[in-house]
Amino acid sequence: MSEQDSKKTKPLSRRDFLKLLGAGGTAVAFAPFVPWGNFMPNPSTASLEKAPVILPDGTQANLKTFPINHAEVITYPKTGDRVLDGEAFRKWQFIRLPEELGGTKDDISSFRAYSMICLHLWCLWKYWPQEGRKRGECPCHGSMYNPVTGTAFAGPASLQAPPSNTLPQLNFETDTDGFMYISPVTWGVNANGVVGYGRFVK
Ligand code: FES
Repeated sequence: MSEQDSKKTKPLSRRDFLKLLGAGGTAVAFAPFVPWGNFMPNPSTASLEKAPVILPDGTQANLKTFPINHAEVITYPKTGDRVLDGEAFRKWQFIRLPEELGGTKDDISSFRAYSMICLHLWCLWKYWPQEGRKRGECPCHGSMYNPVTGTAFAGPASLQAPPSNTLPQLNFETDTDGFMYISPVTWGVNANGVVGYGRFVK
């Protein structure tokens, strides 16, 4: 086989696939034909390591300074590769709960991190801190998520059977100065959850 032929038949790498999606923007159109599991970062057997919570400005989140009723996007697991780290399946909403939902305590109980992949059809939802909202909302078909539990309470995701009505979640630990870390993760519906699929509530 010539070198050119072998290039032609080389299987698509996950990184190439992600680039293709970025360029085409047509993921939904061919979603039924793609073996999505090959490209997810979370095979059910994988366990991952403790990592600092790094905010978009490059600083490490600290529970003494992170604003109440506020959310930022964090990336986990990070690879150091800009293309892979940009993929939606690594994005999480890092939320400090509002005061009325317990967000004033200077401990990890004030914080949540949920996968941003909506459990309905994989659009990206986000947390809205405005008065009268204070919940996760998906712009595609209106699923809404409880920021305390990660469970959908309205819209199509709320009608799905468990575990596909509750978002995957990261857990936290801190050091003595209040800097926050993501605890080691186990991808599985009875543990941290499976991104794009869900989590059983314990
Ligand atoms: S993809 Fe989020 S509600 Fe449909």
